[in-house]
Amino acid sequence: MEKLVISGGDPLHGTVYVSGSKNAALPIIAATLLTAEPCVIRGVPDLSDIKFMCDILRWLSVEVKHHKRDGVIEVQAAHPLSVAPYELVRKMRASVCLLGPLLGRLHNCKVSLPGGCVIGDRPIDQHLKGLKRLGAEVKVQNGYVHARCDELVGTDIFMGGRFGSTVLGTANLMMAAVLAQGTTRIESAACEPEIEDLAIFLNHMGAKIRGAGSHIMEIEGVEALQGAEHTVIPDRIEAGTFMAAAAISGGDVEVKGARAEHLHAVWDKLEEAGVTVERNNGSMRVRSNGDLKAVDVITMPYPGFPTDMQAQMSAIMTVTPGISVITEKVFPGRFMHVSEMGRLGADVALEGSSAIVKGVDGLSGAPVMASDLRASAALVLAGLVADGETEVNRIYHVDRGYEEIDKKLRQLGARIERVSE
Ligand code: EPU
Repeated sequence: MEKLVISGGDPLHGTVYVSGSKNAALPIIAATLLTAEPCVIRGVPDLSDIKFMCDILRWLSVEVKHHKRDGVIEVQAAHPLSVAPYELVRKMRASVCLLGPLLGRLHNCKVSLPGGCVIGDRPIDQHLKGLKRLGAEVKVQNGYVHARCDELVGTDIFMGGRFGSTVLGTANLMMAAVLAQGTTRIESAACEPEIEDLAIFLNHMGAKIRGAGSHIMEIEGVEALQGAEHTVIPDRIEAGTFMAAAAISGGDVEVKGARAEHLHAVWDKLEEAGVTVERNNGSMRVRSNGDLKAVDVITMPYPGFPTDMQAQMSAIMTVTPGISVITEKVFPGRFMHVSEMGRLGADVALEGSSAIVKGVDGLSGAPVMASDLRASAALVLAGLVADGETEVNRIYHVDRGYEEIDKKLRQLGARIERVSE
């Protein structure tokens, strides 16, 4: 197993390039199941989650060529199988978004329930509700979702659950509805940029989707889809994490590829905290003199402050004078980073779905354990400012969502090494 060893204290300076979006690429790769023709996806980051998705497609007898160095995936799903087994699906929750395309294309599929997740309970009731509303018979048996239909028929569907819209639920429904008879209207659709990117890809394939990126989406079903090429959007959460790294370290970093329009809530919050954020065409420059102010944060579905940036923002607040209240409205229990940050000397108390962060004068390095992707990113950020050496263990969590994070941070002047245990 590998770990990251960070010697904190250096402000980051320079330019960093953002990779393609993991959360856009995953459903887009799944969407290639909707056609027998070849598809080419560009800008795909080299991450373990992407590898898992490619492995599942290969298991489904799909031809997948992953040119990792070029960030290109070529896929041809000539005759896909219909069963996605637990052994593969359990490795990654995003594999639940195979349901929509398999059902749309084959009218019959069996996909393992993805299983538990450390960031909280992640039910798929809304996914299943949506597919049933399209006319599928859906049952959950022996740990698998079985879905079948003679044909899918478009209708009006409300997709808001207890925590608002669902990103992969919307993606699943879109991918099933593109080949349904008639028109599907999704209300309370997720409007994350990754959903808009999926719609762009599906429309390149010949789908007729309008309104993606808003809460109301209309999908006019078509007979068949064709192969298409697409370049995925830059990863807004990776970009936000480097912005946070500049802020916490008191540095000056140009984040190339960061799309300001996808990061509005993040730069707004950073500015409120006293960070200077310049928006340039195709990049963002983030400067901080280390003189930060405590801010309160509430996570929400897009365009609200992203839950995937909550842990990183909490890391900044641990070393910011004053008290900050960080509230989770998307995954109420997503605070695994809190106890590990305590090991670095942070003063954070949990109150229901809020973290009360009292800024301390400084953190001190210690061994910590990564528990999920964004919690690990937050620990890396904390390590950048902690006095002495911080060891972040179990970094396969980081590698699920950040391409070469250690190399990119080193290029910005951080002292960070990947070490095999
Ligand atoms: N929810 C339900 N029922 C459902 C589906 C979701 O109650 O059927 C609840 C969830 O439990 C959660 C909320 O709705 O409380 C929102 O969940 P959502 O379905 O939007 O999450 P997701 O689609 O499973 C994606 C990202 C996550 C990101 C969330 C929220 C991918 C592969 N994953 O998950 O990304 O946190 O949207 O923006 O796109 C990450 O990258 O670290 C990550 C966890």
